[in-house]
Amino acid sequence: MKALSHPNLISIRDLSAQEIELVFFTADHFKEVINRPIKKVPSLRDTTIANLFFESSTRTRLSFELAEKRLSADVVNFSASGSSVSKGETLIDTVRNILAMKVDMVVMRHPDAGACQFLTRHIDCPIVNAGDGAHEHPTQALLDAFSIREKMGSVQGKRVAIFGDILHSRVALSNIFCLKALGAEVMLCGPATLMPRGIEELGVGVTNKVREALEWCDVANVLRIQLERQQTRYFPSLREYTREFGINRKVLDEIKKEIVIMHPGPINRGVELSSDVADSGRSIILQQVENGVAIRMAVLYLLATRPQLIE
Ligand code: CP
Repeated sequence: MKALSHPNLISIRDLSAQEIELVFFTADHFKEVINRPIKKVPSLRDTTIANLFFESSTRTRLSFELAEKRLSADVVNFSASGSSVSKGETLIDTVRNILAMKVDMVVMRHPDAGACQFLTRHIDCPIVNAGDGAHEHPTQALLDAFSIREKMGSVQGKRVAIFGDILHSRVALSNIFCLKALGAEVMLCGPATLMPRGIEELGVGVTNKVREALEWCDVANVLRIQLERQQTRYFPSLREYTREFGINRKVLDEIKKEIVIMHPGPINRGVELSSDVADSGRSIILQQVENGVAIRMAVLYLLATRPQLIE
């Protein structure tokens, strides 16, 4: 396997297990590159990439920008705030105008699920989904699985529990697709009100008992409560959520096994995860962030060079 079959990365389901392994293999190489004194390669010289962020981001935006610069691409950054979106310009008009400036690839984050898929029907260049509403965040899932592989040797057969606000989480859905494709077992744990109805049909276990999920898993991926996406109250108070579903040292110490702790960020410290766990030796949260750059270099490289690789 030398090339990706899809021209875009909108969903993890655009990738077969073999293609995910190709992304990992390519990211292994780029991880070595970004740890060299000279962290740049000329792979995407003369390629211009637009990062279109219609929603807030720290990690994903900076990680894509760094990945592009490490590949020697030319980069333009667009944020909806301060743009002509506030004057009523549509998504398609915004993107077509940016592409008229001879942009070759688009990375887009948007608050609406399906926005990236919608754009694929209107523009003719590779698009990478950097998170669309509560739908998917494919590069986050790739960097999460890559971090598990790095820490534990492989993803196959590992038990990964995903904790928290599954209902509003694009990270959860992309992680489920990615981990299942790579042969991991997945359990979801959170309040019943934050569990999508019928999610078991994706082949995952579901529980609302934190201790049960922790005793079962090798890896705990703890998600943020996404208050900004919640139109109604799903639990009585953050304090109650923390008491029932928060992961802290006390609860981990009571489980007689080593569990790897992950979090996609941003962390609500003291809500879903205590600082003593987030900053402990069990946590690979900053390794996830480091791996994000290598994974995004791999995705951009594989999409940008796709036709040449197929020849
Ligand atoms: N993990 C993640 O998507 O973080 P940002 O929202 O800061 O990009």
